[in-house]
Amino acid sequence: MNSFSITVNNHIVSYTDNSKYGAPVIIFIHGFPFNKSMWNLQVESLLDYYRVITYDIRGFGNSDTGNEDFTIELFVKDLVSLMDALKIDKTFLCGLSMGGYIALNAIENYAGRFNALILSDTHCIADTPEAKEKRMKTIENIRKYGVEKYADESIKLFFAPDSIAERVEEIASVREMIVKTSEKSLCNTLRALSLRKETCSKLKDINVPVLIMVGKEDKITPPAAAQLMHEKINDSSLKIIERAGHLSNLENPEEFNDQLKKFVASVDVIRT
Ligand code: MLT
Repeated sequence: MNSFSITVNNHIVSYTDNSKYGAPVIIFIHGFPFNKSMWNLQVESLLDYYRVITYDIRGFGNSDTGNEDFTIELFVKDLVSLMDALKIDKTFLCGLSMGGYIALNAIENYAGRFNALILSDTHCIADTPEAKEKRMKTIENIRKYGVEKYADESIKLFFAPDSIAERVEEIASVREMIVKTSEKSLCNTLRALSLRKETCSKLKDINVPVLIMVGKEDKITPPAAAQLMHEKINDSSLKIIERAGHLSNLENPEEFNDQLKKFVASVDVIRT
């Protein structure tokens, strides 16, 4: 994987850029609290035909934190600044969960910059008062008991029961992604997630093709939430990924990649 770093929007971003000269671009945005390595299997499956980019959101992986308070809007500005710096005018955008929140906010504000969206294990609603309260409690617990305990507890929610039994390597690598994240970034991001705006009311304005994927056993952003987005987005298709929870790209990469490849091949883009 070709890894680079670049300064954009007042912070250093770590990214991978596997280029196929003149090929359409696909940018992947990871979920919380992971990093760009969660997309390794997708990069491998696409790099013969596309320019595939993954990056670490500020505060995660090898990107630095910068000095500003985290918000979804700031993360969107980071994404668009990265596209500008890499001279990417238009791209496919694939986001999982928090990555999906960023993708939905990005298309609302920069519609002309995207050929199509892939929304995976995500939803368009804002946090309910109970969800906000739960995030505050999580912040308190991370500060009190540390990141390792948080990693062990949250992992049970991310994976489907069968994956917990079978996907030993994936679980270890997700745990590593979580424990490598600083307490400060975890808490700042939990706060940003709790303050995010809903995007459901904007879905009717999306005028590019959208593929929605969700693990059949996703407990965090369940299939019903994906169905709701599918009903609101005109040109959308919905694929339920079997044998997967919230991390469908890691739990069933074969089906995820198959759907992803079919979708991107079906979208007509002008080659640069
Ligand atoms: C994620 O995977 O990005 C998180 O589950 C998102 C969230 O906590 O809302």
